[in-house]
Amino acid sequence: MSLIGRRSLLRGFASASLLLVAAAAVVSAQTRQGPGDVREGYERTDYRTNSASLTSRRGTEADLLAVIASPPLGLPPVPAPADNPITAEKVRLGRKLFFDRRLSANNTVSCAMCHIAEQGFSQNELRLPVGIEGRSVRRNAPTIYNTAYVGSLFHDGREISLENQIWAPLLADNEMGNVSIGVVVERILSLDDYAERFVRVFDRGPDIQTIGMAIASYERVLVSGDSSFDRWYYGDDPAALSRSAQRGFEIFRGKGRCIACHSVTEDFALFSDGLFHNTGVGYYATMRPDDTELEVPLAPGQVKRVESDLVRTTGTENFRDLGRYEVTGHPDDRWKYRTPTLRNVALTAPYMHDGSLSTLRDVVLFYNRGGVPNVVLDPLITPLGLNDREIDDLLAFLQSLTGSNVDALVADAHAAPIGGS
Ligand code: HEC
Ligand code: HEC
Repeated sequence: MSLIGRRSLLRGFASASLLLVAAAAVVSAQTRQGPGDVREGYERTDYRTNSASLTSRRGTEADLLAVIASPPLGLPPVPAPADNPITAEKVRLGRKLFFDRRLSANNTVSCAMCHIAEQGFSQNELRLPVGIEGRSVRRNAPTIYNTAYVGSLFHDGREISLENQIWAPLLADNEMGNVSIGVVVERILSLDDYAERFVRVFDRGPDIQTIGMAIASYERVLVSGDSSFDRWYYGDDPAALSRSAQRGFEIFRGKGRCIACHSVTEDFALFSDGLFHNTGVGYYATMRPDDTELEVPLAPGQVKRVESDLVRTTGTENFRDLGRYEVTGHPDDRWKYRTPTLRNVALTAPYMHDGSLSTLRDVVLFYNRGGVPNVVLDPLITPLGLNDREIDDLLAFLQSLTGSNVDALVADAHAAPIGGS
């Protein structure tokens, strides 16, 4: 592809990222799957963002600490490290930081622009998210819901605490683009609205520890359970789950063998064993034996086909992805990724570490085919032989895992202060 083609591709990404800054003034239950902002006319070339509408957005604070006293049905107690106890003020400070675009090098990108509250705290519209100055990231943005229970963070499990994790996006030159930890600390110190808040919470100002402690505390309380499945399985309410989803659960723990990795125990269900497995998605994306072009969605209805090597090397990251191998260096760990939770999975499309599967049906069909064969494929991934009805039932089950407090958490996100307020 010519250089001009490449430039316009990048410009497409850049404007897509700008579009994320506009926001809806009105919040309703429908926002749980809606766009994170006002997108009427998004597909037109004369589209204008209306980011000023952000300030008129009014949310409703939720009692986020309630999950600490009593975790939702289907989930264990929320783990919090002894040296970072959760308090209401700290969570509020963390939430303010999470939604603050001034934490990026040029004031444009916040954590919440890739982990969009209205999109299951993930990103529905882009397979691979776009960071600062339109630079794309090589992996799909995972949900922040229930991240408190995740022991090894990132798709490859390379980070172990939420407190430390924040520095990866803050410093990545294709995410928030800061050149050093010191620069981030200085920036927050220079913002009038933070100094006093930090001192109130930590008895000291923003620094390499307190910034992470605050953001981690907000993420930790984004706990979401009490789904239809939980009310049926753990709450013993036979009417809580449709017959189809009940049959789907039988497939999930029987013929489908899903439960071997997406764990469900007698007392709670995280839907993840916290381990790393090769389903073949990574192998296919990296080796892509039969395709040299990729489809890149620039906006709804606008798809560009580009040479896959170009996409994979756009920006500064090496887009070839070896998964867990990058952490351990062990050849058997090639293309292994952490088993993701399936809670709220209906809200977090597209799927897999590279967002390559667009719908839950695509995921179920993928497993039914036996994943993508490769030399280190997990032995549990083999063709399942599910018929159409079984596929529909399994889908109904996956769709029953949406937590009951999702709308409350989205409304709470909208109560986060904007900018310097
Ligand atoms: C440009 C998009 C982008 C921005 C901005 C961003 N993230 Fe992420 N986030 C991602 C992607 C992509 C991953 C997965 C990366 C990987 O696995 O290598 C991720 C992973 C995570 C995870 C791990 C979740 C899990 O299940 O393992 C957490 C927690 C997280 N981000 C929090 C944050 C916080 C806090 C911020 C702001 C300081 C932030 N993110 C900013 C895209 C982004
Ligand atoms: C061998 C372990 C294993 C088995 C068995 C398994 N999965 Fe998975 N599942 C994974 C891993 C690992 C991923 C992440 C793959 C990636 O990111 O590339 C995943 C991803 C998913 C996702 C996408 C989630 C997201 O947020 O992207 C869904 C949905 C899913 N699995 C459902 C199922 C169902 C349904 C079954 C049974 C038919 C099943 N899985 C069987 C390990 C497994």
